[in-house]
Amino acid sequence: MLARDILSDAGLHADICVDLNDLLRQIDRGAAVAIVTEESLRGHDTRTIAEWVASQPPWSDFPFIFLTEHGGGIERNPEAAQLTATFGNVSFLERPFHPTTLVSVVRNNMRGRHRQYECRRLNEELETRVQSRTAELAEANGQLLAQIEERERMEKTMRQMQRLEAVGQLTSGVAHDFNNLLTVVLGNIAFLERALANAGLDGKIEQRVGYMRAAAERGAKLTDQLLSFSRRQRLEPKTLDLNEAVAGMQELMESTIGGTVRISTTLARDLWPALVDPTQIELAVLNLAINARDAMDVGGTLDVSTANVKLGAPQHPEEPAAGEYVEICVRDDGSGMSDEVRTKAFEPFFTTKDIGKGSGLGLSQVLGFAKQSGGGVRIQSKPGDGTAISIFLPRANPEAALAQIPAAPLAPAANTDATVLVVDDDGAVRDVTAATLKEIGYRVLEADSGAGALDIIGRGAIPDLMVIDFAMPGMSGAELARRVKDDHPAMPLLFVTGFADRTLLAGINEAQIIGKPFVTAELSEKVRLALNSPPR
Ligand SMILES: Nc1ncnc2c1ncn2[C@@H]1O[C@H](COP(=O)(O)OP(=O)(O)OP(=O)(O)O)[C@@H](O)[C@H]1O
Ligand SMILES: [Mg+2]
Repeated sequence: MLARDILSDAGLHADICVDLNDLLRQIDRGAAVAIVTEESLRGHDTRTIAEWVASQPPWSDFPFIFLTEHGGGIERNPEAAQLTATFGNVSFLERPFHPTTLVSVVRNNMRGRHRQYECRRLNEELETRVQSRTAELAEANGQLLAQIEERERMEKTMRQMQRLEAVGQLTSGVAHDFNNLLTVVLGNIAFLERALANAGLDGKIEQRVGYMRAAAERGAKLTDQLLSFSRRQRLEPKTLDLNEAVAGMQELMESTIGGTVRISTTLARDLWPALVDPTQIELAVLNLAINARDAMDVGGTLDVSTANVKLGAPQHPEEPAAGEYVEICVRDDGSGMSDEVRTKAFEPFFTTKDIGKGSGLGLSQVLGFAKQSGGGVRIQSKPGDGTAISIFLPRANPEAALAQIPAAPLAPAANTDATVLVVDDDGAVRDVTAATLKEIGYRVLEADSGAGALDIIGRGAIPDLMVIDFAMPGMSGAELARRVKDDHPAMPLLFVTGFADRTLLAGINEAQIIGKPFVTAELSEKVRLALNSPPR
């Protein structure tokens, strides 16, 4: 009571506690210092308060001031030592004390307590700062991981692209050689057939030659598919309404895959015109439809849909660059593809079908055609959940439709007295080309290189027409053509090529190109037209 009055006089608020529990309550309510008389503890259980002292948070060390009796200093008083152990932060004040002493001891302890509060505040502030910094770091880390993942995905796409490109180059080389072989085979078969017909031999041999032709033609079709994968086929893009194309294919699809498969179409309104080779897109859709049929052996639904789409950056190598495309999508509810099949589906010769059932060229052909057309392809498929394959084609500029060239009028009969100079480095191909032309009635000169051809012309043997192999070692067909045109600008030229690389053949009229392996009819028709057409 006395102490409270002294403190009150000094401007410090104090409350009196009746027992230790009351003291604890007051401490919990925010008391800054406790003043405890020694006798008030005597005979009381101090365990609760000892537990409270021990369980203080790290920042807190609550101050107690003990009022001892005269002579009760710590050095002579074992009880006082015990108090220090139990209460921790204790000060002793011996009675009787001077009021100023009490006030100063209380003030000191209060200041200490306030510092503890201040310490707690700083600590908490630090904690929140650490937390927000940690969150920032976690976010930065997350972004970094996402970037790494994106990069890995890009690299994988790049690797896949490079692999497809390498396979493309390889197949185009193989196909090119094959076309030369097939030109020789098919050309000679044509001779045999004519000779047999003239000699009037029995049907058996004719039948065998017929088998040879069928096999060689199948080979030619395969090489054609290979070339379309390596994007070196000859395309004749036109402005096309894909809705019309799909509608026009309905009957063909019904007859090819109908039966247990229901065919539906979902055609977008106001579909943009697409720039695409009409025959090739039909083939591609038919290819997809046949795959879909094969994936639905118990029947199902096949839907062909069209749409205008705006695509973002490609996620897979088969997808086109960002931009506006006309989409044609073939969807089935068949077996679907596993991830492994899906990643390999576009590779040439990849097939999961039985030997003799699939050659594995269908999708690679579709991809090659779509890419060469300036578009791309996308697969969406899950095992058991069906497959949707989209072909994206470049949107045609509407004015392009007006610029389409009308069909050339038929040329009158050719002058078969004409002299044709055949230039080809491959002896067998040259031989069969020359023989075919001779048989039609032309006079034929032969050269095995560009230099050889220039030599013949230099000696004064000026032909009426030249048939030139496009891909020759040394002087290429294009180079030879330039040199010939310098001196003989009116000379008609025809180019024979296994592949029509659009960049190489850009600017050359379709009528001047003969694709290998050629059939006699195509060769004779193009030669006839070239001899009759006015000089260009
Ligand atoms: N619609 C589809 N549903 C399920 N799997 C498909 C589908 N289309 C293609 N595939 C899978 O992709 C593989 C490759 O298809 P692709 O068309 O290139 O070759 P193929 O059909 O096996 O043979 P080809 O078309 O040359 O006769 C198929 O063997 C098949 O496993
Ligand atoms: Mg197929």
